[in-house]
Amino acid sequence: MKKIVYLCFLSLSLIACQKDTPSSDTTEDYLHIKHLGGQATSNDLLGSSHAFSFPIPLNTEESELHLLGDANFERNFSDDPSRPEYGLGPVFNNTSCLGCHNRDGRGSLPVGLNTSSWVRLNQNDSLFLRISIEDDQLNEGPPTAVPGYSSQLFHLGSYGVRKDFPGVGQAEVWIRYEESQFQYPDGEQITLVKPLFKIENPYDAYIDSSERIQSRLWQTDVKTSPRMSLPLFGLGLLEAVPESDILNLAKVKHPEGVSGRPNYVLDINKVNTRDPFPYSLGRFGWKANSPSIEQQSLGALNGDLGVTNYLFPEESIVNTKLYNDYVRGEESFISHKNEASDELAHSLVFYSSTLAVPPRRNINDPQVVQGGRLFKSIRCTSCHVPQLTTGASSVSSLSYQRIFPFTDMLLHDMGEGLADHRQDFKANGREWKTRPLWGVGLTQVVNPRASFLHDGRARTLEEAIVWHGGEAQYSRDQFIHLSKNQRQQVLAFLKSL
Ligand code: HEC
Ligand code: HEC
Repeated sequence: MKKIVYLCFLSLSLIACQKDTPSSDTTEDYLHIKHLGGQATSNDLLGSSHAFSFPIPLNTEESELHLLGDANFERNFSDDPSRPEYGLGPVFNNTSCLGCHNRDGRGSLPVGLNTSSWVRLNQNDSLFLRISIEDDQLNEGPPTAVPGYSSQLFHLGSYGVRKDFPGVGQAEVWIRYEESQFQYPDGEQITLVKPLFKIENPYDAYIDSSERIQSRLWQTDVKTSPRMSLPLFGLGLLEAVPESDILNLAKVKHPEGVSGRPNYVLDINKVNTRDPFPYSLGRFGWKANSPSIEQQSLGALNGDLGVTNYLFPEESIVNTKLYNDYVRGEESFISHKNEASDELAHSLVFYSSTLAVPPRRNINDPQVVQGGRLFKSIRCTSCHVPQLTTGASSVSSLSYQRIFPFTDMLLHDMGEGLADHRQDFKANGREWKTRPLWGVGLTQVVNPRASFLHDGRARTLEEAIVWHGGEAQYSRDQFIHLSKNQRQQVLAFLKSL
């Protein structure tokens, strides 16, 4: 009772005060659930740094494909045609899937970032920039490529691609932090950081009539969106959630101003079968900008690594000047069949679909339980919807599972602080997909240098919450008005996931 009064007293908005829900309420089921992925949850890990790398229960044949996928996920591709791992490049952002998805989790920003000096993104930095041209008419289709570029900026390249800057791809990307202070109403202060980016030495640089260096990339209509890599477990479950369930969540309008929107994105399989409406519900990526694990994984194989495959048979920078100049110089390097065998491609997709959700820890710790209750009463659950159910899947342990991913799979306006101002299909420049929170407490056990949010700006879970704005403003304000101990409880709950 005391808690209700407290929350109502501090509530800054006009929302009617909710009665504290009794713990028997089914929507609080998540409080004591350990196996967040149903049958597709791994067994006890005891804090293992490999917590994201366990397969879901699979039959013998499936296990073999998963293991093959594991090996290919770690495969270091090469741009040397005499090597069996050939296929990398001519431009890329890393040389293996694992290089960005550390231990199947997320990667990290470059070492030594600070506010005063720029650091260049290099190999094994797990972030890259998506780029496109701003649309005047609200174009909700595919982002428009920057002339001379594609929709992703490749900061690495095979030697020979850039004679002027060997090893660089289309351009160099440099990063530094901008710092700000945040003060809680109770006086506690924390420092927030946000990465800033600059693009240097683009391949299309030229000197204009007034002796200034110009590039298409530096024109003001070019929009960039930094994207940090994501963990890969539990994705098969998210793919198996029926579309109608997600669309139903989009119909819910919460009194505090939260209402999610689905993204609809180009589906290459539908394009290939000449579907008149070649779009599907977006489920993957920070803006739900990819419809399937297949398209996301093979898009990464083609884009992030430059390895052509059955779904993306052309190099991503085909028809650009950089590519044409390179091909002229290196004709013998260009292979006319897919660089990845179908078996390699299929195994990567299967691997990315069959990693198990880690089990929760410390679920009966009173701080954790209390934090779980607060998580609901301050309305984090309006977006981070605890429970979903999967439909049929070809893999039995993914079928008909009650799962607790803490996401609605929908887009939400997250405010100006997190905006990238770049349209991505239906997602506008302030919208992001609600991140699943399962496993989030193990993020820095798996990779101590990993961080949170789409550009990795939040070094702690606490910073991630404080950055919430837009539709999440109410919830975030409720959080910052909690007592220090209650804030610790919410964080303890997140760490238990
Ligand atoms: C250069 C770094 C990089 C490399 C290399 C990379 N990824 Fe990713 N991965 C990302 C980023 C960044 C995202 C988020 C993309 C977005 O939001 O648009 C992502 C997202 C994903 C997702 C969707 C996860 C989710 O929860 O939505 C899958 C699946 C995936 N990658 C698979 C792969 C596979 C398979 C490979 C190797 C063929 C690979 N990735 C290589 C950076 C990388
Ligand atoms: C309006 C919807 C909404 C509400 C309400 C909301 N979130 Fe989020 N949350 C998101 C979205 C969207 C992201 C991803 C934002 C981004 O990366 O820019 C996110 C990201 C996060 C992350 C970082 C996850 C990661 O993988 O990097 C954490 C932690 C988090 N939310 C916790 C909370 C907590 C705790 C609350 C309640 C105080 C809350 N959220 C309320 C939508 C919401």
